[in-house]
Amino acid sequence: MGKPKLVISSGAGISAESGISTFRDAGGLWENYPVMEVCSADGFRKNPRLVHDFYNARRKDLITKFPNDAHKILAELEKDYDVYVITQNVDDLHERAGSSKILHLHGELMKIRSVSHPEYVEKLDLEHLETSPETKGENGDTMRPHIVFFQEAVPNMETAVEWVHEADIFVVIGTSLNVYPAAGLLHYVRPGIPIYYIDPNPADITIMEPQVHIIKAKATEGMKILKDILENKNKETDS
Ligand code: APR
Repeated sequence: MGKPKLVISSGAGISAESGISTFRDAGGLWENYPVMEVCSADGFRKNPRLVHDFYNARRKDLITKFPNDAHKILAELEKDYDVYVITQNVDDLHERAGSSKILHLHGELMKIRSVSHPEYVEKLDLEHLETSPETKGENGDTMRPHIVFFQEAVPNMETAVEWVHEADIFVVIGTSLNVYPAAGLLHYVRPGIPIYYIDPNPADITIMEPQVHIIKAKATEGMKILKDILENKNKETDS
């Protein structure tokens, strides 16, 4: 019998305490940038240079940020659980914290992909983080940010649904549950499987009670609380 499967769905809130802006909180990214100009397929077609520059700025910011205790506690839980991380975040903080199974639903800031062959992806190195509409891949293709823009498909959703369906414990952390299909993941949890939702200002999901246990706290505090809850549950089952 392997370790219980703990599947977590994380949003921008888990990276907030690392100093990375969320999108819809006061002062968030979408308060300062016109989302449809910098993060939509139409916006990219209309002004690719503006979009490249938006992601160049976010990459420059990201390399000055580090995983926080929430990312680290999650990575440590791999000692006792088979942990699967599904994230809407495009930062690499889960990777840098040491999580081993990570699925990005909305792309990855530190990668670029071919415009004509989307399966061709390159990782940016720290010396060359800037891209432009003239950026070419090693295969000669014109490259673009490896980000899922609004109006584009979410290719990893199918795998994410499979992971959620196999969860023995499901955790949602730091997401306003505004954006689909990611927000719909919690509906794929099997009946009777406990769901923990960690957020200082949680979206209203009373419809899912009593399956959902809300931990109204910031990510670093909430992950400590979750860790204690899980440890106490293990003591109960071991006794
Ligand atoms: N700890 C935990 N959660 C926090 C913290 C914190 N310190 N600070 C804020 N939050 C919560 C907010 O209460 C909110 O519920 O994080 C959530 C942030 O919501 P959004 O800004 O909407 O971020 P997210 O849900 O990840 O956005 C989803 O929208 O624009 C797209 O592609 C983008 O992946 C993003 C998607």
